[in-house]
Amino acid sequence: MALLPIIILPDPVLRQVSKPVERVDDGVRRLVADMFATMYDAPGVGLAAIQVAVPRRVLVLDVAGKDDPPAPIAMINPQILTRGNELRLHEEGCLSIPDTHVDIERPATVRVRYLDEQGVVQERDADGLLATAIQHEIDHLDGRLIIDFLSKLRRDMVIRKFRKQAKTS
Ligand code: NI
Repeated sequence: MALLPIIILPDPVLRQVSKPVERVDDGVRRLVADMFATMYDAPGVGLAAIQVAVPRRVLVLDVAGKDDPPAPIAMINPQILTRGNELRLHEEGCLSIPDTHVDIERPATVRVRYLDEQGVVQERDADGLLATAIQHEIDHLDGRLIIDFLSKLRRDMVIRKFRKQAKTS
């Protein structure tokens, strides 16, 4: 397993739309393992492949609490089938946009279909933080970021801040 460098705003790679995985093979399983290692090291509760510069529809999640056993979930080619009507508000962060939090309201429940690491189709219902994290990570696969939920004025402020940091580091 290897730790992969995480891409940070304003790198344009984050705006790429990721392509579906055609075959779940050892290369994909290695990517998933490296993504888990990178996510736990960060630490974070979710990571999309595009955040480590791989434009494929792959994401990893673990929303287990600190005192709970790990609950790793890998999703390949995830697709939201249904969204509940109720909304859930969460202050979201992102490993690609450090020290930035955005209050976002998303559907509180989703049903998602994806391939697991064996290439088997899975479906599951998610609520709470898992539902929020799944939607956040699928947004990444479509090139969408939490700052897109801000007004243009505030979004531009965040982008400017990161542009300045990128120059000075
Ligand atoms: Ni993120």
